[in-house]
Amino acid sequence: MSQQLALVSDPHNTVPFSAHKELPKRLVPPHVEALKPYQPGRPPEELKRELGIERFINMASNENPLGPPASALAAIQEILPEINRYPDLGGTKLREALADRFAIKVDNIALGSGSESTMANIIRAFLHDDDEVLTSQGTFIGLYVLVNAQGIKLKTVPLKNYHFDLDAIADAVNPKTKMIYLCNPNNPTGTIFTRDEFETFIRKIPDHVLVILDEAYYDFAAINPEYPDSMRYRLDNVLTLRTFAKAYGMAGLRLGYGLGHEYLIDYVNRIKLPFEPNILAQAAGLAALNDDEFLGNTLENNEEGMAYLTQEFDRLGLHRIPSHANFIMCEMGTKENVAKIHEGLLRSGIAIRPLTAFGLPTCLRITVGLPEENRKLITALNKILAPEKKK
Ligand SMILES: Cc1ncc(COP(=O)(O)O)c(C=O)c1O
Repeated sequence: MSQQLALVSDPHNTVPFSAHKELPKRLVPPHVEALKPYQPGRPPEELKRELGIERFINMASNENPLGPPASALAAIQEILPEINRYPDLGGTKLREALADRFAIKVDNIALGSGSESTMANIIRAFLHDDDEVLTSQGTFIGLYVLVNAQGIKLKTVPLKNYHFDLDAIADAVNPKTKMIYLCNPNNPTGTIFTRDEFETFIRKIPDHVLVILDEAYYDFAAINPEYPDSMRYRLDNVLTLRTFAKAYGMAGLRLGYGLGHEYLIDYVNRIKLPFEPNILAQAAGLAALNDDEFLGNTLENNEEGMAYLTQEFDRLGLHRIPSHANFIMCEMGTKENVAKIHEGLLRSGIAIRPLTAFGLPTCLRITVGLPEENRKLITALNKILAPEKKK
């Protein structure tokens, strides 16, 4: 079919694109063709209208329920008149502050528009052709999507009692394994591997295999002496990922970073889009990084909320997996049980996360909220589960 090359005189061109089916088939590589479109939850506005609810409590995305730090808002306000300018290419001030924080060099830091962007940059920088990525089932879906989108082979081993099975991952390394992805605490299970487990694992991994240690929920787990804070080691084949999206309350601004040896970080910085992260994110990040009060309040809210929800979930007889992050995963036994709770909570104006997309169709994940939100969740769960308890 040949295309019509005609200039449309009407400035509000209403001529549709042709129903051309052949061109995409020839343009799109098979690994992109195989990608499933992202399935977002139903828009809150639509749900609100349908269910007659004014305000939704969002416990679905592991965000910070306290809102953004006031210090970050003030920094954004201050930099707003400069958004006609490109941001500092090197993100120098923020990288200097991070370098200070971790006692490393600026060259050990790659910024990104969210840690997921840094993850994408790492994948683009180091993986090609027959390289393989090795990880666990039941971990952050963003990783699976990025690897598949690059046409790279992804190998997974099963979770072991909802934990990363580091022994099985080490055993599965083969000559084509270029990268191993670990998530600690793991999303969506909330579980961690310990220092001993990590040290045993890393000794077994050849130096030429790159280990990505995703520590998006680091701040919530760091008080645990068993937790292996990757920045307490200096490992040449490990890249750590951290984010401002969770404990720092800035998920919508998109700011994250990677830490590691300068020879690796150099390539990540060559691949990244020159002006990510944007000017507002850089300014807000710098302010938030020094806002110990906000971080303290976040951790306190999480600790109290986690203690309350843990106790209440146990009283309700829910099978929860002990969590080291800002969310709790529950094993509900069947998909029907997940749907019943998910839909029941939606009708009460509470959004949580069913985990089919994570390959855990009988599980759901609930983010710790504000005290009032946690109480509303428990009241709603009481109602949904009450008839069952009487049986
Ligand atoms: C384990 C993990 N890594 C990375 C991300 C993405 O973080 P960011 O918002 O910084 O891209 C998330 C977000 O949910 C996550 O759970």
